[in-house]
Amino acid sequence: MLTTSPARPFHHPSAKSALHCGRVSLESLARKYATPLYVYSADQIGERLALFQQAFASRDHLVCYAVKANSNLAILKLLAFHGAGFDIVSGGELDRVLAAAPRAVKRVVFSGVGKTPDEIDKALRAGILQFNVESEQELDLLADRARKLKTRARFALRVNPDVFAETHPYISTGLREHKFGIDIRRALAIYKRAADNRWLEAHAVSVHIGSQIRSADPFGAALERVSALVHQLARAGIEIHAIDAGGGLGIDYHNADFDPAAKVKEYAAALDRSLAGFSGRLLLEPGRFIVAQAGALLTRVLHVKKNGTKTFVIVDAAMNDLIRPALYQAHHEIVPVRPRHGKARPVDVVGPVCETGDFFARDRVLKPVKPGDLIALLDAGAYGMAQSSNYNSRPRAAEVLIEGRSARLVRRRETRSDLLAPEIKLAKSRK
Ligand code: LLP
Repeated sequence: MLTTSPARPFHHPSAKSALHCGRVSLESLARKYATPLYVYSADQIGERLALFQQAFASRDHLVCYAVKANSNLAILKLLAFHGAGFDIVSGGELDRVLAAAPRAVKRVVFSGVGKTPDEIDKALRAGILQFNVESEQELDLLADRARKLKTRARFALRVNPDVFAETHPYISTGLREHKFGIDIRRALAIYKRAADNRWLEAHAVSVHIGSQIRSADPFGAALERVSALVHQLARAGIEIHAIDAGGGLGIDYHNADFDPAAKVKEYAAALDRSLAGFSGRLLLEPGRFIVAQAGALLTRVLHVKKNGTKTFVIVDAAMNDLIRPALYQAHHEIVPVRPRHGKARPVDVVGPVCETGDFFARDRVLKPVKPGDLIALLDAGAYGMAQSSNYNSRPRAAEVLIEGRSARLVRRRETRSDLLAPEIKLAKSRK
């Protein structure tokens, strides 16, 4: 068996066979569901959740999967079944949790810097676990909505610990200069003020320093500051029931030797060290780590084109399907589903969208491919489909979830009429 990496469910069962996800051939999936196609391993998603649950087993904890990473209903249902809660950032994500796993709504934390009154009302009525509040104004709004609905709102202040974490600047959040959270030095005063409001219940302190953070150290540093705040709050008579450590643990998009179990253990050890003496509940909000490596974007080669010295492999997926390379210069491994013999050469792998930014890889050394060949873009399960769009009026891809030997379509391919539906009546009525 030729694995792409033990950290990934995609492998060639033998040198001659097509790339598989678990026991299912990606060639057969492309025949049945066409391309571009997102393929996810349910088994790996379950295993990744279990890694967190096991690493934190010695303390009261709840993994609140960050829905934004991949919000497919079947994936949410699977995670809820295995005991996960959810971190949401919009009313739309709340709808998804309610549709996929209504009873899990009690395990929902609601993050985000711009919650609207409607979204807050909806979450209050649904009875979510906690609001992660990002400003004093938002706390006032929350109190106001809770008073109107005659209910108490459990909240955490999302504090900004001013900790630097090495990652792409677009997804770093833990510095004072970022829009996120409340300066940790202001938090005590705000909790004190909230203690006088009968519609608010200080439930937790939350923190989230960014995404795709590879080292455990910044998480430890952030949690140390949060622990100190929790002690200060206790001295002020404010008892905190939970600490929400946010998400952000990174994967290795390059290295085939990446060991996810060891990584989660290292992360848990760093958090544990900083939380010594805290016996309340620990909330975690991983997204990427749970779903990224479970997924691949399967795409077909349309043309191989030479321009001067460059070779372009033009595929049927594009930046509207997976924007990470264009937006963050992100690296995704590319594997031919049925590798051909021949010399590997540098090529650009690009989509059909009319932008030079529409690329998946530049100067990537790949074995030869021909029109009609299938290739897989790996580690695409997180922030792939979730960030897809209809740019260039391209229907969004279908999604398939693999469980053991079975492949289940969990989102059908969009049709041309899906794309036109919101506008077509308006266009007709103006004639
Ligand atoms: N909690 C909060 C409050 C967040 O803002 C995020 C991600 C998470 C949890 C989950 O973080 P994760 O464990 O997935 O790193 N689109 C970017 C990533 C954006 C992350 C936004 N916030 C990408 O494709 O890399």
